[in-house]
Amino acid sequence: MDVLTALLLVHLIPVSTPKNGMSSKSRKRIMPDPVTEPPVTDPVYEALLYCNIPSVAERSMEGHAPHHFKLVSVHVFIRHGDRYPLYVIPKTKRPEIDCTLVANRKPYHPKLEAFVSHMSKGSGASFESPLNSLPLYPNHPLCEMGELTQTGVVQHLQNGQLLRDIYLKKHKLLPNDWSADQLYLETTGKSRTLQSGLALLYGFLPDFDWKKIYFRHQPSALFCSGSCYCPVRNQYLEKEQRRQYLLRLKNSQLEKTYGEMAKIVDVPTKQLRAANPIDSMLCHFCHNVSFPCTRNGCVDMEHFKVIKTHQIEDERERREKKLYLGYSVLGAHPILNQTIGRMQRATEGRKEELFALYSAHDVTLSPVLSALGLSEARFPRFAARLIFELWQDREKPSEHSVRILYNGVDVTFHTSFCQDHHKRSPKPMCPLENLVRFVKRDMFVALGGSGTNYYDACHREEF
Ligand SMILES: *[C@@H]1O[C@H](CO)[C@@H](O)[C@H](O)[C@H]1NC(C)=O
Ligand SMILES: *[C@@H]1O[C@H](CO)[C@@H](O)[C@H](O)[C@H]1NC(C)=O
Repeated sequence: MDVLTALLLVHLIPVSTPKNGMSSKSRKRIMPDPVTEPPVTDPVYEALLYCNIPSVAERSMEGHAPHHFKLVSVHVFIRHGDRYPLYVIPKTKRPEIDCTLVANRKPYHPKLEAFVSHMSKGSGASFESPLNSLPLYPNHPLCEMGELTQTGVVQHLQNGQLLRDIYLKKHKLLPNDWSADQLYLETTGKSRTLQSGLALLYGFLPDFDWKKIYFRHQPSALFCSGSCYCPVRNQYLEKEQRRQYLLRLKNSQLEKTYGEMAKIVDVPTKQLRAANPIDSMLCHFCHNVSFPCTRNGCVDMEHFKVIKTHQIEDERERREKKLYLGYSVLGAHPILNQTIGRMQRATEGRKEELFALYSAHDVTLSPVLSALGLSEARFPRFAARLIFELWQDREKPSEHSVRILYNGVDVTFHTSFCQDHHKRSPKPMCPLENLVRFVKRDMFVALGGSGTNYYDACHREEF
């Protein structure tokens, strides 16, 4: 199958069925289901999920709670939306994708023009340095490397609107006279994360007033702020990279594919592999732009499938070997710790930071998912969202509970801190204490050492 056929298949499905042509059941699932999931993962199906091509409004499980529960605060982690590749395939023309935002090009969102017009008026002093130097929306007729595309903006306008309908209209998370300190906004220093955050907020907020927006800058993709120094985490990462390398060497089909592609573009195989061609190929795939050709032939769908299949196998082995889990526990602890701190302050009745948004990367969300025990969750697609909701039981006001949602799917009872809790309790949520105990202490148990806090686990000698 070529790119076009794959994409056409997607669009042959009637509009009333959910996007990407899968049944609503399979589309909503993030955990593989042995009954309905194809036994061999289909690389094209996985790639389409990854593209996350905007279409009809999706249904989601955010905000679902019994009537006597009150929504206290919401903590949203997003991956930036669809972007131009970070790498080029050597000696080929890069895909011609237009990163300006225009109404008569698909995908479209009703708020797109208003977003551009609002952003083009400038931001005043809404950002911590050095975010001020970044453009507020994508605007290059030929995308720059890593630039957010119109698809990426639309994905986050949609995310924002969905969250607004649920959290603001239905659950009244923010009062009518909400102010800047009720939001906590943080982004890495890339234009695509800042712009994704702005698009989401533009879809989310009832009035996007620059005076009420303040984005903090996060220098680390792990969002580890002042607690980034952790030698053991780096050791896990090195071992994990070694595992990746060995798995790749074992895959002769993959090596053959890289060899063929290297011949087509006429560079040494090593150089081609170092250029991480899958990143660029995914852009071709998601945008229905045919793969590059040279005098020697074309990169094609079979190459794409082999590399994508290897990625899936790599993720499978990664789960089994647990080195990435070690990296993730230590990598995600600081941001999880910060989140429970924010939740605990909200339970004390503080009215600040009711809505927190972290605009981030796949390398941010992936460790958080893994650390929470959601190792079966799919790799973060473009504009992926991971949400922590904090609820209060009005009938027992001292009791607070959390729900965890990944791309709209309730995964609370798949987390390691709340597995099977619902079998013992009638509540459709997890006690906040479970999450707190997990982050403060239990998450380090997965590392198998004696450390029961971040500092000890990061400096373990015996590792
Ligand atoms: C993909 O692009 C081709 C033109 O190159 C077009 O005919 C086709 O309709 C496009 N497919 C989709 C799904 O947009
Ligand atoms: C965890 O959060 C508390 C505040 O809530 C802070 O005092 C502590 O330093 C944090 N620990 C780490 C390792 O980030």
